[in-house]
Amino acid sequence: MATALPKVNQNNMCWRANRCSLKNIVAKKNSGVYFLPQQIRNVTYTNTNSHPGPLTANSSPSTTTPPRPLSTVSIKNLIESIQFASVQPNNASSTINKTEQRRGHSPQHFYQNRILDRYVSQPVHTITLRQLVFFGRNLTEERLIQSGNYVRSELPIRLAHRIHDIQNLPFIVGTNPRIAMVYDLYWSAFEKLRQFPPIKTMEDNDAFCTAVKGLLKEHLVVIPQLAMGINECSGHIPEEQINRFMYKMLRSRLSRRVLAEQQIALTENWHDPGYCEEIMSGGYIGVVSTRCNARDIVEKVAKMTRKLSQNKYGIVPPEVLLDGEQDTTFAYIPEHIEYILYELLKNSMCGVIEKHAPASSISRSTRTDNISLSNSSSLPPIIVTICSGPTDIHIRVSDQGGGIPDEIYSHIWSFSSSHKLSDDKKSENKFLNFEKVPKMAGTVEEQEDAMIPPLLHLGIGLPLSKVYTEYWGGALKILTMDGYGTDAYVKITRLGNREENLL
Ligand SMILES: Nc1ncnc2c1ncn2[C@@H]1O[C@H](COP(=O)(O)OP(=O)(O)O)[C@@H](O)[C@H]1O
Ligand SMILES: [Mg+2]
Repeated sequence: MATALPKVNQNNMCWRANRCSLKNIVAKKNSGVYFLPQQIRNVTYTNTNSHPGPLTANSSPSTTTPPRPLSTVSIKNLIESIQFASVQPNNASSTINKTEQRRGHSPQHFYQNRILDRYVSQPVHTITLRQLVFFGRNLTEERLIQSGNYVRSELPIRLAHRIHDIQNLPFIVGTNPRIAMVYDLYWSAFEKLRQFPPIKTMEDNDAFCTAVKGLLKEHLVVIPQLAMGINECSGHIPEEQINRFMYKMLRSRLSRRVLAEQQIALTENWHDPGYCEEIMSGGYIGVVSTRCNARDIVEKVAKMTRKLSQNKYGIVPPEVLLDGEQDTTFAYIPEHIEYILYELLKNSMCGVIEKHAPASSISRSTRTDNISLSNSSSLPPIIVTICSGPTDIHIRVSDQGGGIPDEIYSHIWSFSSSHKLSDDKKSENKFLNFEKVPKMAGTVEEQEDAMIPPLLHLGIGLPLSKVYTEYWGGALKILTMDGYGTDAYVKITRLGNREENLL
């Protein structure tokens, strides 16, 4: 008997609540609130002792069905599980009750949670940008295999921490189908990665890269599903808790992608006969460029955002003027800065055009690809100032786009929609447009290739830019003067010596 959606609105109950006794379960039966009791978590299965730990694989029962939230467990089955577990703690996985297994609540799942706990108890081994560069610089087969093994052991640990976070969300949030979908994806990836055998040869490394590429592709649905799912739960958890959870999820996701993409890029470099010349010319080591040039990046992104604004509005977009120390070079992942500046300039362009261009001159649906991008715009320019300090690079994007109204400004970093917008701003409610965007990697490329409509308001441009900036220890601040304009300040660390920020 599966229970209906439980009548829960207490904020502190989680999927894997573990502070209840059997007595409590029975006591709670009538209220429809069920817990996973401490007894189950405390059962020691002897076969866990033979589990090889995070760096080896394949000796534990494997299943890709993650432990379910308890809403689908009947009281009867739960009690049977407890009795089963306490009577036969030593051979739990070999005598799994088939019905329980089908329902997704077998002792095997409790066993799985214990494996998860082993990974959660391990610290994340963060790296610095400098380490990424040094490691990839004098690439040898041995180093590539070594870094492959680091990624192979690190990804499941990072995933385990996030699975654990999802399990600790309030119970009602776990019943959201979108959150449940992300949870399933994470479990399946965790299982795949933790069971991947140690990398001993280049062939093993190639196979690992292929597997990781598949996972990266599979996980493109994560941002849209998470953003919509958590937004739908806004009424059930405080905004602060939602934001803390989402920023952690997104930072961790970015970190896993960086590790994975660096390994894939280094491996591709290794197989590329022109690899050395490439390094010499582009200064690239995997996905890191050792010679990022601030002016080049701003100019590239300005051109892209002006073009798409022209396409959308059918008028000559505002100019982007550069100021300050433009020839600053530094080591960074260019994709990250490009994304941040792309989002900031898009916002500025839209603000300036919508505030200053006469409505009659805007033809929203007209494509103007054939009109050359003119520099002489009558609109107030957007000014980008670059300042290069000894440890950080500062970039300020300054516009006269009318500023951000208070009711929007106070929630630009938020993933919650519990705050109410006035009726004329209703259409700007965050994340609704993700219905039209099933997949998202969070890159400029996917927007330029029109896989994601670049000017569709998704509400994630600023939050994701914040994640990118803070990941390597930088910062993003937005100051606005409602009625006049907005200044965005980006701080990027230039020494590459800060550890990944995953908090
Ligand atoms: N420079 C700006 N000028 C005017 N409004 C802005 C500016 N930057 C951000 N905003 C406001 O903040 C909102 C959130 O921005 P963002 O996170 O980029 O999401 P999106 O652009 O997809 O709506 C925008 O919809 C817009 O209303
Ligand atoms: Mg935006």
